[in-house]
Amino acid sequence: MRSAGERCANLELMDTPLPSWVFAEFSPVGVDLDSVESVEAYDRNQGTQTAKDDALLDRLPFGEGTVFVDLGTGTGSLPVRAALRGAEAHAVDVSANMLAFTRRRAEVEGVEVEHHHAGFLSHQFAPASVDVVTTRSALHQLPDTWKQAALTRIAAMLRPGGLFYLWDAASRRSASTPPASRCRGAGAWPSGS
Ligand SMILES: C[S@@+](CC[C@H](N)C(=O)[O-])C[C@H]1O[C@@H](n2cnc3c(N)ncnc32)[C@H](O)[C@@H]1O
Repeated sequence: MRSAGERCANLELMDTPLPSWVFAEFSPVGVDLDSVESVEAYDRNQGTQTAKDDALLDRLPFGEGTVFVDLGTGTGSLPVRAALRGAEAHAVDVSANMLAFTRRRAEVEGVEVEHHHAGFLSHQFAPASVDVVTTRSALHQLPDTWKQAALTRIAAMLRPGGLFYLWDAASRRSASTPPASRCRGAGAWPSGS
């Protein structure tokens, strides 16, 4: 295991302020998952995902020092499992309480995970600096236009030959459908998406 000083040697971070017209991705925080209690309840209800996380990581290219970034990490089970495999693991989330939970999880497991209080549109990973990017159940939080921006940023942060894994829900309804009717039609969501 590398020392704290050696970690992140592979990764150059930028510090560019966001223009004011960018979607306010921190604005949903506080609506649901930004209290300690709600984060703990979320993690309890999700159940332990360790086997699922390991099955996913088995499919990804890993070596000592692989730079791994999980966007919208939630309670951080995936980056912690990646760190246990020797990855330089980064957890990114707009929720400070999610990141606090992730930090505690990493401490319990005795690994280091770098925490970034940021989102798809505001993380500061330098171009071509990351080997593997994952995101699960998080990209849907952005309006469609901004999903495109998020994907473009992910493509930019990946090294040539880097790998991106996305898991999320998608609706066949038009992006212009009002949110209320989208929520009503749960049966219209494609299965297994
Ligand atoms: C349903 S949880 C999924 C958490 C985790 N990826 C998992 O699979 O359990 C969605 C997460 O995305 C985060 N999130 C919401 N908007 C985000 C954004 N714009 N950028 C990054 N994360 C965001 C939320 O704070 C939350 O932790």
